[in-house]
Amino acid sequence: MEECQALGLTKSIGVSNFSCKKLETILSTAKIPPAVNQVEMNPMWQQKKLRKFCDEKGILIESYSPLGAKGTLWGTNRVMECELLKEIAQAKGKSLAQVCLRWAHEQGVCVLVKSFNKERMKQNLDIFDWKLSAEESCKISQLPQCKGFPAGEFVSDDGPYKSLEELWDGEI
Ligand code: A2P
Repeated sequence: MEECQALGLTKSIGVSNFSCKKLETILSTAKIPPAVNQVEMNPMWQQKKLRKFCDEKGILIESYSPLGAKGTLWGTNRVMECELLKEIAQAKGKSLAQVCLRWAHEQGVCVLVKSFNKERMKQNLDIFDWKLSAEESCKISQLPQCKGFPAGEFVSDDGPYKSLEELWDGEI
């Protein structure tokens, strides 16, 4: 990828699903540090430790599954069915999805949300002229954490990662 950038074939290099440990490893040899680390991030999996690390290293976090990717093989209903988020959405006259996206935006990350529905796409963009109160943000920050996509498929006795702890370097 560094050669690709030198050749002008890519503008920036990004990684995905990197833990602090994997970033440390790549940063120890990279001539060009990754610009972005795309990871699962939403109110139910806030990635506080990784975000702090990436902030210090100048790596932008990009949040995938900001709504929990409900309905997909790798997704969870926990985000869209969270009672606290429902309450906040109702109190603000916003949708729960908008509360999630605004929350992620306020954390200073780049947000990758997807929808095949035009109205929901519009709704998902309509998060820039209002904000969460300090109290709402504080309550969200205290939500119990649970990774939506542990990716057990990548764990195998015969592979490099023999447990989820190893796969995620303990960050699970
Ligand atoms: P749809 O394409 O029918 O809108 P994530 O971005 O976390 O991976 O979640 C994507 C899922 O969330 C898709 O199933 C998408 O369905 C749905 N989705 C996207 N935007 C909204 C929204 N504003 N309200 C409810 N569901 C949404």
